[in-house]
Amino acid sequence: MTVSSAPGKVYLFGEHAVVYGEPAVPCAIERRARVTVEARDDDRLRVEAKDLTLDGFTVEYSSGADEQPDVNVPTPLVEAAMGYVDGAIEQARDAADTPDAGFDMTVESDIPLGAGLGSSAAVVVAAIDAAARELDCDLTTEEVAGRAYRVEHEVQDGQASRADTFCSAMGGAVRVEGDDCTRIDDVPNLPFVVGYDGGAGDTGELVAGVRALRDEYDFAADTVEAIGDVVREGEQALADDDVPSVGKLMNFDHGLLSALGVSSRSLDAMVWAARDAGAMGAKLTGAGGGGCIVALDDTPATETALSYTPGCEAAFRAELDREGVRAE
Ligand code: PMV
Repeated sequence: MTVSSAPGKVYLFGEHAVVYGEPAVPCAIERRARVTVEARDDDRLRVEAKDLTLDGFTVEYSSGADEQPDVNVPTPLVEAAMGYVDGAIEQARDAADTPDAGFDMTVESDIPLGAGLGSSAAVVVAAIDAAARELDCDLTTEEVAGRAYRVEHEVQDGQASRADTFCSAMGGAVRVEGDDCTRIDDVPNLPFVVGYDGGAGDTGELVAGVRALRDEYDFAADTVEAIGDVVREGEQALADDDVPSVGKLMNFDHGLLSALGVSSRSLDAMVWAARDAGAMGAKLTGAGGGGCIVALDDTPATETALSYTPGCEAAFRAELDREGVRAE
């Protein structure tokens, strides 16, 4: 039996614009997905998922076969989750050169699904690491990140950036610009507070919406480029340990994302509750449409304000997790 875990993330800056080659800075947070795998003597895959904000489901099937799993949760969620798990297993089989390896697998996660906290990337990263090690194949962290990106890219129809998977594999704060991914060392203490509306956005639809706006209007393309400018300014603020400026730039980023149509009433309500409570900055994180916001506040005020905000289902502090994928 082999167990690996990998962290979720918040976007400090740059989601959506990163899809068009602008830089982004995601930061790993101390909320993890943990994957347990055990090799089987046949080529089947049995997956049990717990705590994925679903009631939990178990499916057993031969990957690649046209078998419909018999489960009682919404099919699109199961299909998406299985696409990621299937892809991760394919990557581990390929890495270990054992195309017929079968597994019993358990996925546990304390990262809400589809809410902008990188749940799918964390599951894919942990699953590749665990399954490859179970097959006696030790991959470097960079290799795990690269293979996890291929899975996300395929499941998300070519619309995924490297941001989520690289950040989850490496941990800490990272910078992603196209294929160029690096860790940012010496980041100041970033007092993250997350607000969660209990919902989820459809990443594919939201990315397609921004793409359509960008194709239709030059000023929308300029808005995407302006997000890139905010990110570059934000990197300088991080290098200067200037956390209040980081917060100001997060506010700016949220405004630009709003202009691109990816915020929502509940996300805006949480962003404003955080700002009114004295947060240094607040913005949506991830694809938007619903899900989570991230604020910077080293006092308890933002967390308290969010917990009383209509539409906010959960508020919690999220420490930067400097460790990425790891064996458990
Ligand atoms: O909501 P998430 O965690 O899937 O983040 C999506 C971020 C986008 O920039 C919108 C897309 C991407 O692949 O980078």
